Amino acid sequence: MLILGIETSCDETAVGVVVDGRRLLANVVASQAPVHARYGGVVPEVASRHHLEAMLPVVRAALSEAGCRPADLDAIAVTAGPGLSGSLLVGLNTAKALAFAWTKPLVAVNHLEGHMYANWLGEDRPAFPAVVLIVSGGHSELILAEEHGVYRLLGRTRDDAAGEAFDKAARVLGLGFPGGPAIEREARLARVKPPRLPRAWLGQSSDFSFSGLKTAVGRAAREAVAPVAEIAAGFQEAVVDVLVTKTVRAVKASSARSVILSGGVAANGPLRQALAERSPAPVWAPPLALCTDNGAMIAAAGFYCLESGAAGLDLDVRAAWPIA
Ligand code: KG4
Ligand code: ZN
Repeated sequence: MLILGIETSCDETAVGVVVDGRRLLANVVASQAPVHARYGGVVPEVASRHHLEAMLPVVRAALSEAGCRPADLDAIAVTAGPGLSGSLLVGLNTAKALAFAWTKPLVAVNHLEGHMYANWLGEDRPAFPAVVLIVSGGHSELILAEEHGVYRLLGRTRDDAAGEAFDKAARVLGLGFPGGPAIEREARLARVKPPRLPRAWLGQSSDFSFSGLKTAVGRAAREAVAPVAEIAAGFQEAVVDVLVTKTVRAVKASSARSVILSGGVAANGPLRQALAERSPAPVWAPPLALCTDNGAMIAAAGFYCLESGAAGLDLDVRAAWPIA
C-alpha cells in the first residue's frame, strides 16, 4: 500500500511517500527555520504563508523522488493536529484537494502518533506494549502504547515542552534558533564539570516541568557563574536526567517490551545515549533526519490509521488533539 503523507503542523512543509508503513520512498522537507531564526521562534502568520508557497512544489518533489504517479497512490495521509491552526489548514486543505482530485481515501493523522511511527520506518519494528517518550518543540508526553492506536497517557509537561526549554535556554545563552542543536553543539565545548542545575522531580509523578530550569539558566547566564558552554552542558544534563529517569521508571512499572523515543528532541545525542544505557528494555530512536517533523512519519502512521477508516472531506483541523 503506497501512502503519501503531508505534514505542516509547525514550520516544516513536508511530504513523504511510504510503502506499507515501513519502506521509505521519498522524504522531502522544506524547512522555514532560517526565516523564523530572525524572530527567535516560530511566527504563526509567517509560517502559514510559507507553507502556501512551498506546499505544491514539495508534493511534486516527493512524487518525483519516489518515482511514482498520483495514480499509483493508495491513500493521502495528513496531519490534522495538534499544531498551529493556520499551518495545519494549508496541509489539510491540500490533502483534501488531492484526495478529491485523485479519488483517493483521506487519512487524518495525529502529529504525535506520526512522531512515534517514525520508528516503524525500517526493517525491524518495536514490540508492544511500549513506553513512548515524545519530546518536541510543542510536546513532552510519556505514553504507554498497548498496541496500534491504543494509548494511555502516563505523564506530560505542566509548563514548557522539552524542545521549547532547549529553544528558550539557547535564546538566553545567545546561541540562536532552533535551540536544541545549538545547545548540544555548545555543550560539547564544555571543559570542566558543568554546574548542577535544578531538576523538577514532582514526586513520583510522570509529569514534567522545565520552567524552573529555564529560570535557573537565565540566572546562571546573568551572574556568569560559568562559561556559556558549561551552562549549556548543565542544562542539557538536567533535561536528559529527568526525561530518562521518568521513562525508565515507567518501563519498570509497566513491564513494557520496548522504549520508543521520538520528536525533535530525540535527535539529541546525550539523550539517546543515556536512555540506551539506563533502559531495561530495548530502545528505539529514529535516524536523525526522521526525528524532526517530516511527511514520511505521517505516511507511516497513516498506514495504521487507515485500518480504523478513512476521513471525509469535512475533516477539520484539531489544534489541540490529545493522542490518548
Ligand atoms: O518535532 P519537531 O521538529 O517539531 C515539533 O513538533 O515541535 O521538534 C522541534 C524541536 C525544537 O524545539 C528543537 O530545538 C528540538 O526539537 N531539537 C533538539 C535537537 N534537534 C531538534 N533538541 C535537543 N537536541 C537536538 N539535537
Ligand atoms: Zn513534531
